[in-house]
Amino acid sequence: MTDATTASQQRTTDVTRTGPVGVGVIGAGVISDQYLSNLTVFPDVRVVFIADIDLPRAAAQAEKWGVPESGTVEELLAHDEIEIVVNLTIPAAHVDVATRAVQAGKHVWGEKPFALDRESGRALLAAAAAAGKRVCVAPDTFLGAGLQTGLRTIRDGRIGRPLNALTIMQSPGPESWHPSPEFLFAVGGGPLFDIGPYYLTTLVQAFGPVAKVSATASKARATRTIGSGPKAGTEFPVEVPTHYSALIEFENGGSAQSIFSFESAQPRAGFVEIEGEQGTVVFPDPNNFDGDSTLWTFGQEGPETIPAVGSTYSRGTGVVELARAIRADVPERVPGELAFHVLDIMVSIAEAADRGEAIAVTSTVTPSDVLPDGWDPAAATLTE
Ligand SMILES: NC(=O)c1ccc[n+]([C@@H]2O[C@H](COP(=O)([O-])OP(=O)(O)OC[C@H]3O[C@@H](n4cnc5c(N)ncnc54)[C@H](O)[C@@H]3O)[C@@H](O)[C@H]2O)c1
Repeated sequence: MTDATTASQQRTTDVTRTGPVGVGVIGAGVISDQYLSNLTVFPDVRVVFIADIDLPRAAAQAEKWGVPESGTVEELLAHDEIEIVVNLTIPAAHVDVATRAVQAGKHVWGEKPFALDRESGRALLAAAAAAGKRVCVAPDTFLGAGLQTGLRTIRDGRIGRPLNALTIMQSPGPESWHPSPEFLFAVGGGPLFDIGPYYLTTLVQAFGPVAKVSATASKARATRTIGSGPKAGTEFPVEVPTHYSALIEFENGGSAQSIFSFESAQPRAGFVEIEGEQGTVVFPDPNNFDGDSTLWTFGQEGPETIPAVGSTYSRGTGVVELARAIRADVPERVPGELAFHVLDIMVSIAEAADRGEAIAVTSTVTPSDVLPDGWDPAAATLTE
């Protein structure tokens, strides 16, 4: 049995519940505002609890977003109304928190990366399967209007068979704006693990699963300095490479060259270009939910703009898609197997750079179906 089938084959769903799905958020840090701004208005989910190891932080977010209760992780996991735990902790805590959640009988939506290594990632998939729960992990940006439109362009045959791709994400790094950026330069961070999931998930949706990777990596500075918030001016260690250049080969043929870098004074993010037998499509930034695509076709003058069609709501979109899938007892579009495959690709890129040799990626996954026309996370579809 492959990693891709383990969890889904053993999954069971609690079909006795109806109506909006209860949500508990663990991790009340920087990204929780974006999630809560959407999850507190989407009618198909109901946020009932926020937990954090920093209790005042959890309480402040609960008050800010009108969430009825806050407290410890243990209290959240014991809350009967909660069916989905939204895990917004730092990468080093992802597997532990998610494992405790599935063992407490909750489904999980988590922030990326899925895990820090393959072993703990596999163990989490197995724990979810054993509990009959779903463990889904960001990004859900490909459910947004921008990437859905780009992916439809490919699936409608507008560029023919995809042949190769070029993706570029380069920036000076996030320590200038994030008030606690240490985790972004520790194991599970760096440009590959922090931003790579957006680009690699998009490539897997466009080309299918990855078979093999080669890479080089570098680290320009041993320390960085926090640029904002109460710890501004504090130096901290850089534990992982801050530049990767990867060559990615897909199971079905085709390849991509990808740069992931926190080493560049010139920001150049969001570049995803896919060349096909009949044309080229340029996607919008895969870290966003919106943006038009651009299509170039052989024999036609000038590019064609393909306007984005679909939902432009941001983070939290995947939680609603999961909530509806739970109620309908159908597979979700952002399964744990997808995030595990992306983790496997990232670990393989890091190993390839480290060892100076190509690494076979052994996990696999099937790209998700595009969303139906008119799919709207803000619609009320789950009635009591
Ligand atoms: N900041 C962003 O712009 C952004 C964007 C997309 C995704 N993410 C992802 O979201 C996650 C969180 O990022 P952030 O920027 O909000 O980090 P953050 O450091 O601001 O917040 C993390 C929160 O989790 C809490 N926490 C840590 N370990 C915990 C545990 N074991 N139990 C309970 N709470 C715990 C911390 O106290 C903190 O409040 C990361 O995985 C990151 O990759 C962040």
